[in-house]
Amino acid sequence: MRTCRTIAELRAALESRRGGAIGLVPTMGALHDGHRALLRAARDECEFVVMSLFVNPAQFSAPADLNGYPREEEHDLALAADAGVDFAFVPTAEEMYPPGFQTWVDVTELGAGLEGAFRPGHFRGVATVCLKLFAIVRPDLVYFGQKDAQQVEVLRQMIHDLALDLELRAIPTVRDTDGLALSSRNARLTAEERQRALALPRALATRDAAAAREALEAAGIAVEYVETAPFDPPVLAAAVRVGSTRLIDNFPLEGDAP
Ligand code: PAF
Repeated sequence: MRTCRTIAELRAALESRRGGAIGLVPTMGALHDGHRALLRAARDECEFVVMSLFVNPAQFSAPADLNGYPREEEHDLALAADAGVDFAFVPTAEEMYPPGFQTWVDVTELGAGLEGAFRPGHFRGVATVCLKLFAIVRPDLVYFGQKDAQQVEVLRQMIHDLALDLELRAIPTVRDTDGLALSSRNARLTAEERQRALALPRALATRDAAAAREALEAAGIAVEYVETAPFDPPVLAAAVRVGSTRLIDNFPLEGDAP
């Protein structure tokens, strides 16, 4: 695996690889088995796999959330190499947002509700960084987790609206054996909070927004939203706070439980 830290370096490295399918897995690091599933899907389908590792400041509104985001570069690069990644792209914030940066992508309607309502500007940051990554890597396929169902929906819309020549694959949510969706944020939960957080997948499994809210509140969990969302597939989505940790999850409303 080769690690590239600048756009020029990655572009030069990819130049001779054009021709075979290039898969891109964008990440913010703190990799877990959910990311491993994305990397496995890319490895199975593509000739070359690029993984980006960049904690994108533009998608955080609270400085404490950005500063507290786990950074484990050494561990992440080892996991990526083990998963068969060919190129890891690990840019600095200045490389991605050079002085004078002023171009933003806003998926106006899909980015406004649910997460967008509680994290204003979040999807503007996500869409902008993803479009820039797509422009740098020029992938044939891009891989995202279904756990971030709204992110998948926003990016699908951006790809459609801007006629980007690539395909998005949404990979099913990976859960611990007790049902909690894997997330880099789970590491922040105390043992007691982690137990309490199990109420989230259980509540979503009711597939009923009112019943889910009631179950979450009964478990002492602060609910930001529990709503059905008309995505593809439609989901029951929720964001909650367990202690100081914010968790999101969703269950599809069609087909088998995840
Ligand atoms: O899902 C994430 O980890 C991030 O939102 C992404 C897609 C890597 C963009 O920073």
